[in-house]
Amino acid sequence: SIDISKLRDLSGVVTLDPGYKNTGACTSNITFLDGEKGILHYRGYSIEELAEKGNFLEVCYLLIFGELPTPAEIKEFETHIRRYTLVDEEMKTIIDGFPKTAHPMGVLSALTSALIAFNPKAVNPGNEQELYEAVCKLMGKFLVIATWTYRKSKGYPLNYYDNTIGYVENFMQLMFKLPTEPYTANPAIVEALDKLFILHADHEQNCSTSTVRMVGSSHAGLFASVSAGISALWGPLHGGANQAVLEMLEEIHANGGDADKYMDKAKDKNDPFRLMGFGHRVYKNFDPRAKIIKKAADEVLATLGVNDPILGIAKKLEALALSDEYFVSRKLYPNVDFYSGIIYRALGIPTDMFTVMFAIGRLPGWIAQWKEMRLNKEPIGRPRQVYTGYPLREFVPSDKRK
Ligand code: ACO
Repeated sequence: SIDISKLRDLSGVVTLDPGYKNTGACTSNITFLDGEKGILHYRGYSIEELAEKGNFLEVCYLLIFGELPTPAEIKEFETHIRRYTLVDEEMKTIIDGFPKTAHPMGVLSALTSALIAFNPKAVNPGNEQELYEAVCKLMGKFLVIATWTYRKSKGYPLNYYDNTIGYVENFMQLMFKLPTEPYTANPAIVEALDKLFILHADHEQNCSTSTVRMVGSSHAGLFASVSAGISALWGPLHGGANQAVLEMLEEIHANGGDADKYMDKAKDKNDPFRLMGFGHRVYKNFDPRAKIIKKAADEVLATLGVNDPILGIAKKLEALALSDEYFVSRKLYPNVDFYSGIIYRALGIPTDMFTVMFAIGRLPGWIAQWKEMRLNKEPIGRPRQVYTGYPLREFVPSDKRK
């Protein structure tokens, strides 16, 4: 094993690797990923088996604490999370300051940062009890404020966590329960969401996780690091792709379903358009999460009796890409975001909340990676550069400037 804190810099030697395509920044024992073979494991367990047999909260526990929980441990974990689901009333005044039209990801990032004001004590990751409390606090409050971003956009009153039902079921109730009507989430929807959250829970050193580790490497706190991760996830080349995919599919549908035309646009190097939900930095064969989600999309739509023409367009695009020289030669296959939006849509989740769904799923991964980075005593993240600007030149007084 490598003690990363003992690695010394090689003075004078700088490797240039934009986008870190071939640069490892850390050692990690959380998630194993083989992009050529399409393999993804959390702590040694295959994603296929976890999605089929596990549930989201136990996968959170596995990622953060390293082992699947015993029945007593998961009960304690759930109870502890519940204890922290109340969000300070003053947080509501912060939400009220946002316009209804604000994108939920911007609001979520800001609210996560704002939580620090109400929980200012720095967490010592080496203190097990302190860390446990912080993890449960973040998981509890994050779920509630994530749903509040939606309630705010609708102008609905904010809901509170219900201690009589589970974490994922609570998500549905927090989102959709109206004050005057009883609400019970459809168990098929809860099951599908649970699976989706598991599939998003960690993905080693992706853009948002690297951001969490980078920000945390300056010893900024857990909440601040996660807030930065949310902003990184928002971008359309990363988690924001799930919203962009759905918008693209809707556009193709509205324009008569001509998938070939959009394939041509995606291949045209003079056109900035990319086929959203296709391609991945690491997966060069297939994304195992996309395979599971595609099957789940079929099942969810059948269970809910939804006949969505968007699914047909997605399948057509995938089939076209699989036999297209441009996509095949560049190893561009559907990624996790390609089919997830179709399920979210069938579940009644609004499009601009799709990336928030991703963030809820990814939270345990961010926490686990932040914890690992601190416990490994990783040095502050500080890449070098190759300077390409002017050599030294003389200052020009303002009256002499042209
Ligand atoms: N549509 C059309 N062409 C594409 C696409 C796409 N979706 N993705 C990559 N390409 C092309 C590039 O233009 C490039 O072509 P070239 O070699 O002729 O210049 C080649 O494939 C390699 O692409 P890069 O951008 O260099 O690959 P990189 O690893 O940097 O980017 C990324 C990966 C960002 C995922 C990219 O494939 C993309 O933009 N996909 C669409 C957005 C998306 O779905 N993002 C979600 C990723 S999964 C996640 O983050 C959860």
